[in-house]
Amino acid sequence: MNKRHESEFVLKPQDEAGDPTLFQRLLKQEKVPVPDFLKPNNPGFGNEDLPVTRYTSRDFHRLEAERMWPRTWQFVGRAEQIPNAGDHLVYDIIDRSVIVMRGDDGVIRGFHNSCLHRGRALRTGDGCVGKLKCPYHGFTWNLRGGFESMPCAWDFKHLERESLELPQVRVESWAGFVFVNFDADAPSIIEYLDVLPEHFKDYLFERAVVLAHVRRRIPCNWKVAQEAFMESMHTRATHPQIMTFTGCADSQYDMYGDHLSRSVTPMGVVGPHLDGVSEARVLRDILEESGRMADSDGDAHTLPEGMSAREYIGELNRKLFGAAAGADLSQATLAELEDAILYSIFPNTQIWAGFGGNIVYRVIPDGDAHESCIFDVMILGRYPSDSPCPPAARLKVVSDDEPFSSAPELGALGPVFDQDMRNLPYMQKGMKASAKGAVSLANYQESRIRHHHLTLDKYLGLGDGK
Ligand code: FES
Ligand SMILES: [Fe+2]
Repeated sequence: MNKRHESEFVLKPQDEAGDPTLFQRLLKQEKVPVPDFLKPNNPGFGNEDLPVTRYTSRDFHRLEAERMWPRTWQFVGRAEQIPNAGDHLVYDIIDRSVIVMRGDDGVIRGFHNSCLHRGRALRTGDGCVGKLKCPYHGFTWNLRGGFESMPCAWDFKHLERESLELPQVRVESWAGFVFVNFDADAPSIIEYLDVLPEHFKDYLFERAVVLAHVRRRIPCNWKVAQEAFMESMHTRATHPQIMTFTGCADSQYDMYGDHLSRSVTPMGVVGPHLDGVSEARVLRDILEESGRMADSDGDAHTLPEGMSAREYIGELNRKLFGAAAGADLSQATLAELEDAILYSIFPNTQIWAGFGGNIVYRVIPDGDAHESCIFDVMILGRYPSDSPCPPAARLKVVSDDEPFSSAPELGALGPVFDQDMRNLPYMQKGMKASAKGAVSLANYQESRIRHHHLTLDKYLGLGDGK
């Protein structure tokens, strides 16, 4: 809690706070037409405990490695990160590795990252090359995966030239988000994304650009990190500084097909755990502490008489996000200008909806380790249609002994992730020490987590898939 104003308001008892109908009531106050897709969609998924072994067991991790990871669409990066021929990202997932590269024809392809001579990984990291040349003996491919040359060709006459084309992995994109899938029979990415492209159609993600990209290893199972962003209930205990402007326990949770869920957390409203917060305080705190409004200078704005903080910040975002994108946002709802509307794409990617302040999370296992994962966070901006795409921000890797707040490009989000870090490693420790042997989920507020596990079970062939 910000000490400067601690005495301004009162923390209520935690027992009863929260009203998931708040968001729908806020929509009734919108002055522009409200998109139909913002209405609730949660059929309920039961209350059974989940065994901790889903997070702690090596065997469960191997089952995921065999049955889930090879069959799902996974987010690799944004197209603007690889704008030129030869630009590539290396996507490692458990024991598999893919080079996702832009060819000299502009097409983005995925190549299994393994030399057709004796198997060395062709690339060990992101970068740009003129050709794909194996560092070991020099077998060489062009940027479309066509074989070019080898050393001592006289000694490889037994190899058919056609068999030397680099094997490809499926790569498909939506609105600049590039995904891979190892399964030739998987549905297209558009089909897999379910209603997401329809829900996101006005948000100009095809004109998005990576403004910040930070990566850090987290010592926990990948699902522990993923699930830290699937409920807002932990705000009071973990992120108290955002309670003044975050309807944390008022969030709406929605589920679509197997691969998609979302949470909608009203912003610019006094959080349900607090009493007596002034609207001026809501405004200043959301600017300074949310990390995703169009301005972060809380002292630069004064709330006009009779105007709510929610309305003010919505109008500020309308103006500044609109200017950045060169877009007319006059018909945008306040909800889509400021609320935390966060979609999860199974298994491991989350994208914030709306006209600005969009964050992307991705969590993958750390190699073959089941108690360590790699967390990527991106912040996306927009550019006008009559401007060239600005260069994407370069990846910053935060080392294991550094906090997220050492990455200034994350702004106020850095300290928020550091607060999450105070839980995640200890989730892994505590689950292993559990006498109960199970985790219990809130019936509603943690329904996205249950949905995540139900879909996982379908891939793993466990449970009844219901
Ligand atoms: S392993 Fe690649 S050229 Fe020999
Ligand atoms: Fe958190």
